[in-house]
Amino acid sequence: MGIRKEENLYYIEAKQFSMILENREGYLLLKHIGKKIGSYHFSNSIYERDHAFSGNPDPNIRTFSLDTQRQVIGLHGLGDFRKPSLVVECGNHSVTEFKLVADRIISGSLEVEGLPSPYVTDKAETLELVLEDVVTKLRLYLYYTAYEDYDTITSFNRLENVGSDQVVIHRQLSTMLDLPKSNYELLTFQGAYAREKTVRRQKVSQGIFSIASNRGASGHAQTPALILCQEGSQEDSGEALALQLMYSGNFQAFIQENQLGEVRLGIGINDDNFSWELQPQSSFSSPLALITYSNQGLTQLSQESQVFVRDEIMSPVYAHQERPVLINNWEATYFDFTKDKLLELADDAAQLGIELFVLDDGWFGNRFDDNRSLGDWVVNEEKLGGTLANLIDEVHAKGLKFGLWVEPEMISENSDLYRQHPDWCIQVPNRSHTYSRNQLVLNLANKEVVAYLKTTFDTLLANHDIDYIKWDMNRNITNIGNGSYYLETQMQSHRYMLGLYELVSYLTESYPHVLFESCAGGGGRNDLGMMRYFPQVWASDNTDAIARLPIQYGSSYLYPTISMGAHVSASPNHQMGRTTPLDTRGHVAMMGNLGYELDLTSLSQSEKELIKAQVSHYKQLRPIVQFGQHYRLINPDEVSNEVAVQFNYQDNVLVTYVRIQSQIETMETTLKLKDLEEGRLYQLVGSGQVYSGAELIYAGLTMSLVQGDYISQQLHFQAL
Ligand code: DGJ
Repeated sequence: MGIRKEENLYYIEAKQFSMILENREGYLLLKHIGKKIGSYHFSNSIYERDHAFSGNPDPNIRTFSLDTQRQVIGLHGLGDFRKPSLVVECGNHSVTEFKLVADRIISGSLEVEGLPSPYVTDKAETLELVLEDVVTKLRLYLYYTAYEDYDTITSFNRLENVGSDQVVIHRQLSTMLDLPKSNYELLTFQGAYAREKTVRRQKVSQGIFSIASNRGASGHAQTPALILCQEGSQEDSGEALALQLMYSGNFQAFIQENQLGEVRLGIGINDDNFSWELQPQSSFSSPLALITYSNQGLTQLSQESQVFVRDEIMSPVYAHQERPVLINNWEATYFDFTKDKLLELADDAAQLGIELFVLDDGWFGNRFDDNRSLGDWVVNEEKLGGTLANLIDEVHAKGLKFGLWVEPEMISENSDLYRQHPDWCIQVPNRSHTYSRNQLVLNLANKEVVAYLKTTFDTLLANHDIDYIKWDMNRNITNIGNGSYYLETQMQSHRYMLGLYELVSYLTESYPHVLFESCAGGGGRNDLGMMRYFPQVWASDNTDAIARLPIQYGSSYLYPTISMGAHVSASPNHQMGRTTPLDTRGHVAMMGNLGYELDLTSLSQSEKELIKAQVSHYKQLRPIVQFGQHYRLINPDEVSNEVAVQFNYQDNVLVTYVRIQSQIETMETTLKLKDLEEGRLYQLVGSGQVYSGAELIYAGLTMSLVQGDYISQQLHFQAL
């Protein structure tokens, strides 16, 4: 376990996952990545063969070419024709050659300066490899941290300029891996607004496939992650490797299969609109990447990632704290609310057992629609019928916690803030703005703006008894041009991220009792960078239960269930127009952190009774969903008409099954459950029915649903 060096090999060993790097006269080669090899010794022979048109650094060794070696950094100009991981402009060229000069084994994990990192732990070891380019006087530090209890290795790097001339970084990926030829498939999580995290699975073939964002946020349409698996891998079989970036801004992730069928993976900051001036005696750190491995299929890979994210990335205050059932007034009222209406909603919520009342957009400035007032974080006391403190007290008096919506990164042109500081938004001088939702983005690369936001939200939080914040972000960044010269502007997008991380780390550290939920028009920035500070995320603006199934499915690949807010909304649904039974809406939302987002006051008595029963039932099930192991039993792919998910927690098993379209003269599905004890008895809660674990695993349970579209069933078993 941990890191060890034997001769010219470095063994980086996590729980059941190893990487072995070879030092071949200064070149770093990736000898193995995959199953843990324990204390076995590896030879240090490398594959060598003369390949046509491959460059050789040594004229006497035609069999050694960087184009055919598996590496962890890729440099161009030295005969490796694949995509490089590092490109630095040094005077009139960008050819660098980094050779290993030193190494160090550090106990524990490290933080990346200014960027989100997993919490520092001593149950890990870190390998530091120092490489130098003697010509340009650049030093590259590579870091690999192996965690004792996880099948995850984290990696980042730092480039230091020890020379006397400025250089310009044009690309510095966080991690790169070259893998042997095999039949691979690639999974990515794409989609669009309101259909985030759509799982895309494809065969890998010669050429480059990349996903990237240049939106200033990771975006709805892509997730900073890749999963590479053996062709045909299933939930319970096959080798799989996930690469994830802990960063919320512009990113790129690619896979390249070269002319010999070998594969290169890379992930890091996107090159679009990015360069970094590296002054003498300064350094630049890449964001951190996570590499997670499973040799038992995709479910195990997901569980490994979910548990690492929950226990090492999410705030320890919230990782194991049950999340409150909330009511959010957005789809209940939109901007059109009064104090009386809010209190009526809160009244009903309290009676139904809901625990947190969230006041969404529209409580500040002159914000009666989405065209104005962002930036004017002054309570509109006329609209609220009094102070915010009064409203909070009244909500608290009903036994509910109080939450508030904010969108700090934005500014409306029609706002006092814009009138005072027109230069605070992101813009190109002498060009008109580009609008989106009629709003502009504040330049968080400007320290003055970050300082202003710290003070503003500090004041709000210090003076109000707020229990929860929904941090929204409703547009992407355009018109980047605040720098006084080109390269300064090229640094703006990353500086924005540094400013954002500084702001959110300050606020979350100052107010640890406040539960923060991130949102970017739903899942427009649902990534590990934000999750480090905000332990909950509003996964999509699409609140339709059926549309939500693939979104929740996609999220489950890498993120823990406890990170995901899921709300029951009105029927017909506001985004999809679909009519779905309240039972099914409840069952689907109960596969995440349950909330409600509809006008409770307009519901019939029987609907209210049903919601009351749902809330009370969820409180029983909550630890199973939020802390349990997650299993995908039936996935919502293109051909599937049904979805089934299982959670195991202590002696409890919860299975949720949803059938989308009603069918006639077909047999109902038999679900075979996972990871139970064969010899144990499990009782179906609410009935006297008892099954052996063996029966549930091998014979399974045949579902029995009434006819109708969008029907679901929830089964809770308790081990006896
Ligand atoms: C977009 C969010 O995703 C919604 O939930 C809501 O908060 C609106 N913004 C408010 O403007």
